[in-house]
Amino acid sequence: MELNKSILLLLPLMCCSLISGIHAVPSLRLINTISEPPSAAPAPAPSSIDATATVANVVVTPSPPSAGLEELCKDADEPTLCVDTIAPFIKGALDPVVAVKVGMAATMNMTMKVSDTIKTLMASPGNGDYDQQALEICADQYSSIVDTINDCFESIRQNDIYGTWINFSSVLSYQQACEDSFREGGSPIPFKDDSKTLFLLGGNCLAILMHLSGY
Ligand SMILES: *[C@@H]1O[C@H](CO)[C@@H](O)[C@H](O)[C@H]1NC(C)=O
Ligand SMILES: *[C@@H]1O[C@H](CO)[C@@H](O)[C@H](O)[C@H]1NC(C)=O
Repeated sequence: MELNKSILLLLPLMCCSLISGIHAVPSLRLINTISEPPSAAPAPAPSSIDATATVANVVVTPSPPSAGLEELCKDADEPTLCVDTIAPFIKGALDPVVAVKVGMAATMNMTMKVSDTIKTLMASPGNGDYDQQALEICADQYSSIVDTINDCFESIRQNDIYGTWINFSSVLSYQQACEDSFREGGSPIPFKDDSKTLFLLGGNCLAILMHLSGY
């Protein structure tokens, strides 16, 4: 397994796993804080405003639904992509765990798209000058990505945010290993843009999971 970029991504995880126990309680509190609708924060002074005015205030100034999502995505490499990917699937108050699941589903969708591309290219070796050996390595890596994301759906269903974060980082390691197989073979990767998008979508999930883990 290549250790260049992957090791940079894994280093903070190795360090954090040493102190995970200490942070277990604060991270749960963080999740609760984030899931509170922002509109709950500024309560008008009851003595100076009557009930009708209070109701009117709430109606006139609805909190933007994207505010909590922007906070959740703020550590991502591509915060805008992170928000744009997830926002269409959030109805009502933001549940950060739902947000992660949407991000993971988006990553899975891109994984399936690349897997299909790899299958097509492998099935028609005469159609391109693509490195067949690199394609085979990538087919294995993408199969591992599918397994990893499925496992992560299960661990997040069990509310193990920290375990999901640690294990989800493998997605980027597999994605890098696929790119490296082409780099080492010296031929261009035929799904360069999708590979990059997968990297960014996976990175978004990691950033949110890190945030929810309290780091
Ligand atoms: C993933 O793909 C399915 C099927 O095309 C689609 O219904 C779903 O909305 C996609 N999920 C995300 C998060 O983009
Ligand atoms: C993380 O992956 C390891 C190895 O596959 C597995 O044993 C462990 O149960 C996973 N952890 C979680 C929280 O899913």
